[in-house]
Amino acid sequence: MTQPMKFDRNPVPEPYAKTIERFGVEGGFISASEKDSPWVPFGDNAAIRHLTFDVRTNSYCNILWVKSPGIIGTHKHQGAVSAMCLEGSVYYLEHDWVARPGDFFTEAPGTAHTLVSDDPNGMKAIFWMQGASEFYNEKGELDQTLNVFWFIEHYVTYCEENNLPINQNLFI
Ligand SMILES: [Fe+2]
Repeated sequence: MTQPMKFDRNPVPEPYAKTIERFGVEGGFISASEKDSPWVPFGDNAAIRHLTFDVRTNSYCNILWVKSPGIIGTHKHQGAVSAMCLEGSVYYLEHDWVARPGDFFTEAPGTAHTLVSDDPNGMKAIFWMQGASEFYNEKGELDQTLNVFWFIEHYVTYCEENNLPINQNLFI
């Protein structure tokens, strides 16, 4: 019988250990199970799986799922966004690249773009977002501003309407 592998942790000197213990916070873990975070409908053809809300920095992480060929309307970012395509494919009307699983892309403050998936199976991508996203209509009028509190409300409202527990581990 083979022995189980054994790994040891290295010692890490920490001059501020007591202060960290008192005021620091641990990192989090959200499993792939919908019990940890459900898919919350986002319009008719999309859903969002919320993974992290950080109200101190107005930043948030989630997976966007566009279920079949579709569009997420033109929006301008007021913060930085980092993303990776997980399934299907996605592109922006404003750029000449197409992101497929494993492809990484960023969105910068001040830029505006229009997300499209023409993949028969749609797309899934993980987004780490900071700051507000401003959505504009076809007349160039501001429709809606999405910030960390919009995302929290999106999650909490769905949980409360469906008698699901609110996972405090999403809040860091
Ligand atoms: Fe964006």
